[in-house]
Amino acid sequence: MKVELPDLVGYESLIDFIEKYKLYKLEGNILEIGSFLGGGTVKLALLVEKYKKKVYTVDIFDPDVDLSVNTDGLSMSEIYNLILQGKKQLSLFKKVIEGFDNIIVIHKDSKDLTFRKEEKFFFTFIDGNHTPFYIWNDFKLSWNNTVSGGVVAFHDYRGDLPETTSAIEEIRDKYKKEIERTEEIYEKKILFLFKK
Ligand SMILES: C[S@@+](CC[C@H](N)C(=O)[O-])C[C@H]1O[C@@H](n2cnc3c(N)ncnc32)[C@H](O)[C@@H]1O
Repeated sequence: MKVELPDLVGYESLIDFIEKYKLYKLEGNILEIGSFLGGGTVKLALLVEKYKKKVYTVDIFDPDVDLSVNTDGLSMSEIYNLILQGKKQLSLFKKVIEGFDNIIVIHKDSKDLTFRKEEKFFFTFIDGNHTPFYIWNDFKLSWNNTVSGGVVAFHDYRGDLPETTSAIEEIRDKYKKEIERTEEIYEKKILFLFKK
């Protein structure tokens, strides 16, 4: 049976970006915070397997915890549960990533996660919990281990979650001395920060 590769963002944009800047030439691996059903995880894993790189993917696998509400009045939790239609997120995810040996699954709340300083990332995609606390948490978690020239990207920048956007802007302003430059894909609601 063919398993579809569902992702919410359209990871093709991330793949084009990584290829455009040949980020896989840098030291380290990819970090994804917010795997959901794993379709995006697999697309990233397929991209980097030829460079012998891994994708670390973090998810709490609980559709009920993110209560951030969008400008239509819907919570992220309601959206995830609408998509899941009563199915178990973790079971669907496991089927999608089956057979990939360069995907490392971290089944955790991202606030309880730390990385050893030797664990380096050349690209991180932050799309986990959308509350400002977690945007900051997930940024610090990834930025501290991002190599020079590497990128941390946020989803939901200038989308329908104003508090998420404000937190991302605060980070961009506070860390401006460490940021080489930024790039945005407005249609996909993604902001990329290049580390000096
Ligand atoms: C928007 S979805 C990720 C979508 C995915 N990037 C895609 O495009 O397919 C956000 C994910 O973050 C997870 N999440 C929510 N709070 C979390 C937390 N505190 N720690 C880790 N993951 C969390 C949810 O379970 C959900 O799967």
